[in-house]
Amino acid sequence: MARGKLITFEGIDGSGKTTQIEFLADYLRSLGLSFLLLREPGGTRIGEEIRHLLLDMRFEQMTPEAELFLFEAARAQLVREVIRPALEEGTWVISDRFHDSSVAYQGYGRGLPVDLVQALNNLAMGGTVPDLTILLELGPQARAARLDKRHGSGLQDRIDVETELFKERVCQGFRAIAQAEPQRFICVESLDQKEKTAELIREQVRRKLL
Ligand code: TYD
Repeated sequence: MARGKLITFEGIDGSGKTTQIEFLADYLRSLGLSFLLLREPGGTRIGEEIRHLLLDMRFEQMTPEAELFLFEAARAQLVREVIRPALEEGTWVISDRFHDSSVAYQGYGRGLPVDLVQALNNLAMGGTVPDLTILLELGPQARAARLDKRHGSGLQDRIDVETELFKERVCQGFRAIAQAEPQRFICVESLDQKEKTAELIREQVRRKLL
């Protein structure tokens, strides 16, 4: 039985990951592939509890270090409890965020040393690395417009409320990671025509993984 593939989606809040994950899931389903959809932080009982701690607006005093450890703890659990067993039995896994988010948000965004974040990522992942990562990119204007919509709906969390400067650093972080590992990444400008973006992603998935 062939091992499943691990595909991760990354990008700033409001970059359209959720929509594009749905499109890709439809495509994999149409091919008859069995796959799991996950999100980070979360995906396990322990991970969902940690998610509440991380996103709760009441914990604005959380230190960057504590934040990093919590993301890594959720990841370590998810890899061992869900991702690895799934891949081994031939199931594909699509994750809404994975280790690159820690480098971009806790490293570039919060300013923790990037090599340290990478070391903790390695410990949490224990060698389970994505086969493909789709980075959805969004310019500042488009980002603001999309986030306004989300704020209007009252769906804000502790990290969503960070400053524009923080988010700009996170975006720079994602770009730097993608440049360092071009063979793993597909960088796609998140367009308003969602179907067009989805087709670009399908094309690359076909080329690189099928
Ligand atoms: P979520 O509601 O899943 O946001 P989104 O829809 O933007 O993916 O919340 C996850 C938040 O956690 C998001 O703001 C990004 C942040 N995050 C980190 O800061 N570091 C990480 O390692 C991960 C996985 C997420």
